Amino acid sequence: MITTRSLGVLFSVVLFISFECLSQKEIEVSIDERVEALLLKMTLKEKIGQMNQYNGFWNVTGPTPKEGNAKEKYDDLAKGLVGSMLNVRGAKEVRAVQEVAVNQSRLGIPLIIGFDLIHGYKTISPIPLAESASWDMGAIKKSARLGAMEASAAGINWTFAPMVDVSRDARWGRVMEGAGEDPFLGSRIAEARVKGFQGDDLKENNTVAACAKHFAAYGFVESGRDYNTADIGENTLHNIVLPPFKAAVDAGVKTFMNSFNELNGIPATADAYLQRDILKGDWSFDGFVVSDWGSIKEMIDHGYAKNSYHAGELALNGGSDMDMESYIYVNQIESLLDAGKVQVEQIDDAVRRILRVKFELGLFDDPFLYCDEEREQKVTGSKEIREGVLDMAKKSIVLLKNDNNILPLKKEGLKIALIGPLADDKNSPLGNWRIAAENNTAVSVLEGMNQYSGNSITHAQGVRLVNKIPAFHEEVDINTTDRCGFKAAKKAAKKADVVVMVLGEYGFQSGEGRSRTKLDLPGFQQELLEEIAKINSNIVLVLMNGRPLVLNWANENIPAIVEAWHLGTESGNAIAQVLYGDYNPSGKLPMSFPRSVGQMPLYYNYKNTGRPGAEGRDAGSVFWSHFGDEKNTPLYPFGYGLSYTNFEYSQIEMSSKELNFNSSITVSVNVKNTGKVKGKEVVQMYVKDHFGSVTRPVRELKGFELIELAPGESRKVSFTINPELLKFYSARKKWEAEPGQFSVFIGTNSATKNSASFSLK
Ligand code: NOJ
Repeated sequence: MITTRSLGVLFSVVLFISFECLSQKEIEVSIDERVEALLLKMTLKEKIGQMNQYNGFWNVTGPTPKEGNAKEKYDDLAKGLVGSMLNVRGAKEVRAVQEVAVNQSRLGIPLIIGFDLIHGYKTISPIPLAESASWDMGAIKKSARLGAMEASAAGINWTFAPMVDVSRDARWGRVMEGAGEDPFLGSRIAEARVKGFQGDDLKENNTVAACAKHFAAYGFVESGRDYNTADIGENTLHNIVLPPFKAAVDAGVKTFMNSFNELNGIPATADAYLQRDILKGDWSFDGFVVSDWGSIKEMIDHGYAKNSYHAGELALNGGSDMDMESYIYVNQIESLLDAGKVQVEQIDDAVRRILRVKFELGLFDDPFLYCDEEREQKVTGSKEIREGVLDMAKKSIVLLKNDNNILPLKKEGLKIALIGPLADDKNSPLGNWRIAAENNTAVSVLEGMNQYSGNSITHAQGVRLVNKIPAFHEEVDINTTDRCGFKAAKKAAKKADVVVMVLGEYGFQSGEGRSRTKLDLPGFQQELLEEIAKINSNIVLVLMNGRPLVLNWANENIPAIVEAWHLGTESGNAIAQVLYGDYNPSGKLPMSFPRSVGQMPLYYNYKNTGRPGAEGRDAGSVFWSHFGDEKNTPLYPFGYGLSYTNFEYSQIEMSSKELNFNSSITVSVNVKNTGKVKGKEVVQMYVKDHFGSVTRPVRELKGFELIELAPGESRKVSFTINPELLKFYSARKKWEAEPGQFSVFIGTNSATKNSASFSLK
């Protein structure tokens, strides 16, 4: 069909071609027009080349190809058969591959350089789950911005982030990469991260294109086992899984990555319903979709594609525009086209999308925009970035327990025993996904606490957590044989006024391929904790972990618990400032913390069921939805977190108890700081829709505000509720609000009982 737009484009293309002697900059043509002009010049092979992404292979310092097939890959680059590379990093290294693409290929189309910039490049910020605990959108956006500044100075112009997969299962190792269990919070965080990475103008040399991943339902892999099958219904898909992806599109995200999992029998890589109907159709997404690593080829193992040829056909028809490391598009698409299995329009569409992003990044105007070694030197590890990650780290810490105000610690005169395998660890706090960071570059808790010289610290590891530092792709080898450090730790604890124990997961125990069936403190750490508690119960437990853990014993027996996740380069400084009260923690959990692994999946926005509770039934009856050996509730609910001060909430005030389809109401509370120190609080609003054409969750987060109050200060916090906010994917397969009765809850976490009701008519 010839539209006015395509006629316009055609006209400009003709103009463009006849003015080819002028530079592209001199001719005022839009990106679309420049894309069309270029497309006209490309051979089929060159088009397919744009859809091909290779992993890094070229060692510029040699220059020796690193891998066996590097020669062929290099030749492909020179022939214009590669559109993108990943894992090439460093201004010099990127310049080297870019030079081949730009100077040796016929059309000189620049490469787009991808990298997993997940939480910082060389200077590491907290893992994304930790950052999400800040509920501070400004800080999260800034953290992504700082990561983009550092990575873009090292030649990178595309990050495979943010991961926006909602997950309700702490067994899944990749929960560390996301924003937790809630679609509303996840959507706000998706927006913040996309805007942080992409900045205000993608053409600037310090911005990178973002990538919303993994499309879709990867967070719902069965039993939390990575790469496993996902089988969920439309209701969960639309109401829980898709909203953060949609939010990323609305925030202008330039790319998407699909996922390894199958969804309801179809590998996501070939899912035309997701990629063509929803993403590129309903949502009008005009960026491109990259496959996950080898996921086109993996459709053979899924039992969905007969062979590589068939996999290529399925992936392209399904809407995957770029092939990451399957080598299938570059080898199969030509013959698929000859056989009529794929259409040239699909190829053109994919190439258009890819070229558009390259134009938007400014790569056609200057392919070496991101390859300035001087800038790289200046920006890497700069003061601004270090300060930024420290700030983010402090904001990510969640205070889980603080009996008798044992925290903050006095700054003088204390004898402190600092115990635990993670107390002096400089590697683990970097967490997983920090490919460009040097090992052992985090500030340890020991180093952080040593900044405060008024107390005496005796340090003892107590026990080793791992037998050796694992590499990115290796299994973590947990120490389960050697307890010889217990003795020194007990001795230190005996003499101490207070014991600070730093325990948790090794940095590589969460992340891709790191699923667990246990959510305990690995190795001998629980035993160490219990042994020390027998000697000195005045313990502050500092946890480092990439996922919710089961902490029942600690919650019963340890007076103070600080959730410090994997906080990155500045970990020890952030933790010390919180322990000493120079920073008052305000983080709130973005995932429920279970009482038992058997509760998984666990989430606050569950459905009531037909048998919700024992109340009103025969006393002692077993016939309700519960476990015989554990409560239904989490140990710490979603949104939970304490402060060194206290906040008092008033009852909810409402501007009206009736809402109609053209109006809105305001709901408010007064929040007062009743303690002695300044503090921040995340005021959270949840809504319950009592009846629906499909069943509705018991409550859903619908608003939050981070406020700071001086001692004695109070503030009125208001939220607007309108029909838009009450929309959900209904039985009519539409996003709509349905009339009926609602409850609103406003409080300090998802378990708040502070409620009021209203109706929508
Ligand atoms: C596989 C992971 O699933 C994905 O998130 C990542 O971006 C790619 N590998 C590239 O490293």
